[in-house]
Amino acid sequence: METLDYDAVVIGSGIAGLSFALRLARRGRSVCVVTKKDSAESNTNYAQGGIAAVTSATDDFDLHVADTLAAGDGLCDEEVVRAIVAEGPERVREIVELGVEFSRLEGGDYSLGKEGGHSKRRVLHVQDMTGRAIEEALLRAVAAEERISLREHCMGIDLLTTRKLKKFGFHSEDPVNRVVGLYAYDREAGGVIALRCGAVLLATGGAGQVYQFTTNPPIATGDGIAMAYRAGAEVRNLEFVQFHPTAFFSPEGERFLISEAVRGEGALLRNADGEAFMEHYHPRRDLAPRDIVARAIDAEMKRSGARFVSLDLTARSAGEIAARFPAIDHHCRKHGYAPDKDWIPVVPAAHYLCGGVTTHLTGETTLAGLYACGEVAHTGLHGANRLASNSLLEALVLAARAVDTVEERLAHAEPLPVNLPAWVDGNVSDSDERVVLIHNWHELRRTLWDYMGIVRSTKRLERARARIELLSREINDYYWNFRVEPMLLELRNMVEVAGLMVACALQRKESRGLHHTLDHPSHLPEAHDTVLQGR
Ligand code: FAD
Ligand code: SIN
Repeated sequence: METLDYDAVVIGSGIAGLSFALRLARRGRSVCVVTKKDSAESNTNYAQGGIAAVTSATDDFDLHVADTLAAGDGLCDEEVVRAIVAEGPERVREIVELGVEFSRLEGGDYSLGKEGGHSKRRVLHVQDMTGRAIEEALLRAVAAEERISLREHCMGIDLLTTRKLKKFGFHSEDPVNRVVGLYAYDREAGGVIALRCGAVLLATGGAGQVYQFTTNPPIATGDGIAMAYRAGAEVRNLEFVQFHPTAFFSPEGERFLISEAVRGEGALLRNADGEAFMEHYHPRRDLAPRDIVARAIDAEMKRSGARFVSLDLTARSAGEIAARFPAIDHHCRKHGYAPDKDWIPVVPAAHYLCGGVTTHLTGETTLAGLYACGEVAHTGLHGANRLASNSLLEALVLAARAVDTVEERLAHAEPLPVNLPAWVDGNVSDSDERVVLIHNWHELRRTLWDYMGIVRSTKRLERARARIELLSREINDYYWNFRVEPMLLELRNMVEVAGLMVACALQRKESRGLHHTLDHPSHLPEAHDTVLQGR
């Protein structure tokens, strides 16, 4: 088994991983970024609406903080919210320096988008392809940095911890369980390699793929949460799955996002009778926080039996739409809808995981040597429901803070183990049995969609738990007996994360933000996090 040494290893090449790697390398540290597909393949690359930050004279930090707290429904950590909001403008200036050209108005000011839950226009965007512009700029900067080695098609399997190494005879006086590296499946090496380092950053993004219908690309399988939990780190609030209200409805099941910024430019949601229904649900109507809009759509669809609702942007001209939302316009037209003339069929789809690996503002998790930022992390910013466009912001701010912490920790690091135990692989690969993986993949995703959706009940959650336990046994049995391959590794992580999500949902005996259950329809008097200690 090949073993490679670096100061730090970053798992993931979205906004969180790349911005962390870049900053740390610029401090003179060697960094390896492992990413399981092509480097640009990430949720970041698909971000449309943009990045929320206070940049206009008519906005201020208190308003951004107040909007974030209101969306979070009593569960945000206000200190965290204040810090992230306050550091946003500086982090945005830095990515502009990297070459991200946010859209501007004719006079030269930034064109600021408006999304659900925001009291002001404050979302910087690059038309409707903000994520791609950020991803490209970061990848360019990373490619120019010789201290960063970026390994594509290299998938983190499990964290190497001193607790694990002690079972193989590694001796240490330090009683603290500490991350000292990573096993990864590397396509180029044709098998498993080990990466040894003083710090691992989890930047693996979300877990939308555990749901049958999602806006997320295939990489979003919750790997970081599963790895962290297996290694002993704490996770929290995994019941808070954000369903984006408006994904393009296609009968084949693909769910292309129709940005909330479209409603910010005047689009209205209409039910099967053509009625603009949001006025019945919230004073901010179509720009209410996302949990409220998604539940309203769900209720309208259940009431009418329709498979979708409609988004009406016909008040805008074809030219306006093509200039502001070129990717959305292209997608709709490809499917036979002209957004200036036709109502667009939309449905909610799983979009963002507000919970994650417990992470402090320093970027530290509860496991020594392990850091997290981006969607995989739970910092307390989002509470029970994320304010739109706050996630790119959170990733940039946390990455910068985590670099300060890692730099300081590396300066006083414990010696790393000299020998790492060789990876022991099941030596069989049985393609006939692959049908088990494919079947279980579909079943898991349907289970979550049907039993842990927008509106929940204890009975449905218990049903999900029972199904997941069974699937978990089968998948883990397969894992221990057959040779590892990316699909198996992803499925193992998906079933782990799905189980944790359901466990958190069953712990929460109230409805709050994104967790809405028929058995406990109101808030408990005291807001609390759901917490699961790592294994
Ligand atoms: P990601 O960008 O998802 O990157 C994760 C990386 O980890 C990928 O490179 C992946 O391949 C890699 N990875 C995962 N597991 C492994 C493994 N085991 N080994 C190696 N590599 C691994 N947020 C906003 O703030 N504004 C928006 O406008 C916005 N629009 C969105 C639109 C869409 C369609 C989607 C899906 C999300 C949107 N979001 C938006 C959310 C936001 O894009 C994400 O939360 C954010 O980009 C996450 O960044 P990240 O770096 O944490 O993870
Ligand atoms: C969108 O453009 O609607 C997505 C924004 C987000 O998820 O923050």
